[in-house]
Amino acid sequence: MPIPKAELHLHIEGTLEPELAFTLAHRNGLTLPYTDVQDLRRAYSFTDLQSFLDLYYSLMDVLRTEADFTDLANAYLARAATQGVRHAEIFFDPQAHTSRGLSMDTVVNGLAAALDTSQDTHGISTTLILCFLRDRPAAEALDTLHQARPHLEHISAVGLDSAEVGNPPENFTEVFTAARDLGLHRVAHAGEEGPASYIWQALDLLGAQRIDHGIRCLDDTDLVAHLATTQIPLTVCPLSNVRLRAVPDLAQHPLPALMDAGLLVTVNSDDPSYFGGYVHDNFQALHTHLGLNGDQLRQLARNSFTASFLPPRRKAQLI
Ligand code: ADE
Ligand code: ZN
Repeated sequence: MPIPKAELHLHIEGTLEPELAFTLAHRNGLTLPYTDVQDLRRAYSFTDLQSFLDLYYSLMDVLRTEADFTDLANAYLARAATQGVRHAEIFFDPQAHTSRGLSMDTVVNGLAAALDTSQDTHGISTTLILCFLRDRPAAEALDTLHQARPHLEHISAVGLDSAEVGNPPENFTEVFTAARDLGLHRVAHAGEEGPASYIWQALDLLGAQRIDHGIRCLDDTDLVAHLATTQIPLTVCPLSNVRLRAVPDLAQHPLPALMDAGLLVTVNSDDPSYFGGYVHDNFQALHTHLGLNGDQLRQLARNSFTASFLPPRRKAQLI
């Protein structure tokens, strides 16, 4: 049985498996521009973050109804249970759906229907993290936060994702301040493809309590020292970094260097349908390609609970 762990960096739209994409397309009367599942899988070859995002946003057009979002989340949770996941803090991208004419209610009610039964059905506690798309205007992010207000019982944090380079965290200071005033936690993708300065901005201007990816921190020794001192966690996604060519191959992944520097590192799957593995597959890849031993993998699993937004007593039970 895989080691118990929390998943802290998982885009629910990135769990859309090709089989489910075809099922939902059929159910919604849509025709995909792929002949079959194999043909779609062949398109999963990426040169950088943007080349992935193009497919990611276009395929999510099959998500149309509450039931579609419920089925998507239930499929992920069933899969996560087999990977040892006991707690999941799940990203969703509302603007990718509201910009296609869906309502916030359709998205959140659909996801919540699956999340609400997850503890009983799968033994996984869950919460949602609402991500703002950084390649869309800051004013739209503010409007998105406003639309989410009736749903805050299901949402514990806000995040920042999508195309990083050229879209710095500083553009989203106002909406992150508003989220903090609503009592929400804050995380941000930074230092995936973008520079270490974006990590500083996420910390200093957005009040980020975790950095998603963050691998480019190694370019800035002062930043590494700061992350070590504060124990601000990094949610690292090894298979994603290789598939999106942020690192050349797993054997050269900087995760061991981040651990050696004393950072609070966690391992996560990002968009597992697209990147060739769920969270435990990432743990196994670290063992196979980087030689991480059992103690190191157990430390990473413990870190995932430490870095979560669970209350301290629940963390203590899980660690
Ligand atoms: N949205 C989904 N996956 C992402 C990633 N790896 N980076 C930025 N935005 C994303
Ligand atoms: Zn991500």
